[in-house]
Amino acid sequence: MASTSLLLILLTLTSTLFVLTPQTQAQTAPAPAPAGPLNLTGILDKAGQYTTFIRLLNETQQITQLQSQLNSTTEGFSVFAPTDNAFQNLKAGTINDLTDDQKVKLILYHVTPKYYTLTQLLTVSNPVRTQASGSEGSWGLNFTGQGNQVNVSSGVVTTQINNALRQQFPLAVYQVDKVLLPSELFGAKSPASAPAPKTSAPTPSGENSDHNSTSGAPSSPSTNQPGDAPGRNMGLGLVVGLGLICTGALF
Ligand SMILES: *[C@@H]1O[C@H](CO)[C@@H](O)[C@H](O)[C@H]1NC(C)=O
Ligand SMILES: *[C@@H]1O[C@H](CO)[C@@H](O)[C@H](O)[C@H]1NC(C)=O
Ligand SMILES: *[C@@H]1O[C@H](CO)[C@@H](O)[C@H](O)[C@H]1NC(C)=O
Ligand SMILES: *[C@@H]1O[C@H](CO)[C@@H](O)[C@H](O)[C@H]1NC(C)=O
Ligand SMILES: *[C@@H]1O[C@H](CO)[C@@H](O)[C@H](O)[C@H]1NC(C)=O
Ligand SMILES: *[C@@H]1O[C@H](CO)[C@@H](O)[C@H](O)[C@H]1NC(C)=O
Repeated sequence: MASTSLLLILLTLTSTLFVLTPQTQAQTAPAPAPAGPLNLTGILDKAGQYTTFIRLLNETQQITQLQSQLNSTTEGFSVFAPTDNAFQNLKAGTINDLTDDQKVKLILYHVTPKYYTLTQLLTVSNPVRTQASGSEGSWGLNFTGQGNQVNVSSGVVTTQINNALRQQFPLAVYQVDKVLLPSELFGAKSPASAPAPKTSAPTPSGENSDHNSTSGAPSSPSTNQPGDAPGRNMGLGLVVGLGLICTGALF
């Protein structure tokens, strides 16, 4: 009689374990894919270190232009976003001495009216048209690639492209560690073309993978099921087990 009770308890415990097992396995939930309107300010803001560029985009009202063009573009856009460090490394007054019109052109020079992946930039044919233009036509940027490394040159400055903040049609956003000073504004007589002061420490190339093309989905933390379901099963098992013991005791 006692052994019957024991057997029943064992059986109950075993079935409780079986109930628990699938609960544990069901915990891997797929990450939700966030979709929303493209927000260049948001992308830059989220990445940090682009406050000056954001301010200039806003001040020149080019952010509004771009945002509405992004809505209907068939070619897409690539934005080469200089870091705050890049602006700080400019000779004092470089930006402030520009007229409003020149500021607009400087900003537009950092935008191409076409979406390029880094891979395309490796082999793109130069010069690449930007949004900035003068009476002589569109101002160009030259890209040179070697291996996986892309350099961009304005004729006045050359810098490496190390980091894609976003790389998904219709918008690519790349970090540049120097402000791309167009030779049309800064060529020849330019103070900026004088031997550059110590450049800022290069960005570790390892950052690449951290800011890959994803549109800003934070890696979703694996949400663990609250423990109440297994708890309930355990409780149920105990109740049944106790009930069986009592039943067994009656025999
Ligand atoms: C874009 O992002 C910025 C900064 O994160 C935010 O202030 C702004 O409201 C956003 N705009 C839209 C249209 O979502
Ligand atoms: C954008 O510029 C306007 C003035 O043109 C200003 O009122 C606003 O505060 C600026 N916004 C940001 C985020 O800099
Ligand atoms: C973007 O396009 C949609 C429809 O295609 C329109 O409803 C919306 O107003 C547009 N937004 C801007 C900022 O132009
Ligand atoms: C890029 O520029 C660096 C120096 O600024 C140079 O060492 C490197 O060879 C260049 N790479 C290409 C592909 O032009
Ligand atoms: C791009 O390269 C061409 C050919 O080497 C050169 O004539 C032109 O000045 C360069 N433009 C820039 C912006 O570097
Ligand atoms: C970036 O993402 C693309 C696909 O969107 C992938 O092919 C590529 O290998 C990724 N690169 C890095 C450095 O993670």
